[in-house]
Amino acid sequence: MQEDIQEVLLDEEAILGRVRELAEGISEDYAGCDLVLICILKGAAIFLADLVRHITIPITLDFMATSSYGRGTESTGVVRILKDLDEPVEGRHVLIVEDIIDSGLTLKYLYDNLASRHPASLKICTLLDKPERRLVNIKADYNGFLIPDEFVVGYGLDYAEKYRNLPFIGILKREIYAPAGGKNT
Ligand code: IMP
Ligand code: MG
Repeated sequence: MQEDIQEVLLDEEAILGRVRELAEGISEDYAGCDLVLICILKGAAIFLADLVRHITIPITLDFMATSSYGRGTESTGVVRILKDLDEPVEGRHVLIVEDIIDSGLTLKYLYDNLASRHPASLKICTLLDKPERRLVNIKADYNGFLIPDEFVVGYGLDYAEKYRNLPFIGILKREIYAPAGGKNT
């Protein structure tokens, strides 16, 4: 796995330090609120696991899964809900926990979908943000790191379902997803 990584962008220590800061902010901002964290599977699962262990207020968890890129690296804009929430969110404070905002298409769809269920509030927490790639107007309320326009894997993020278990976030070698002579970028 390691040999497929071009460069480590964020090591374990940097990630955990920042995740702890995000958790502290969330604990302060939502003190006294009925908060549910919605983890977007599968990419955000590892981020969520570290994040919640540093949140000091009572919360509940729920999970949603959407269709992904398949084996490609570009969002299609077609979002399908593969797994919906177990419980209604009406009247509750909702925080979406996502791994990365790229084009923003996935999150825009999810945000609008969840907003239509009348939560008390709706915010977004993402570990990574690639602002250069945005196609729709969506912004995270909590963001771990701004990163350059590179395809990254590890700490939950995958390419073709691989690399999620790397403890760091690294840039995937281009030859892994764009074979020589191919037109993919
Ligand atoms: P968007 O709809 O283009 O914003 O894409 C969001 C989803 O695409 C994320 O939840 C990830 O699953 C995936 N994604 C986007 N960029 C990357 C990346 O650099 N590495 C791995 N997955 C990515
Ligand atoms: Mg993915």
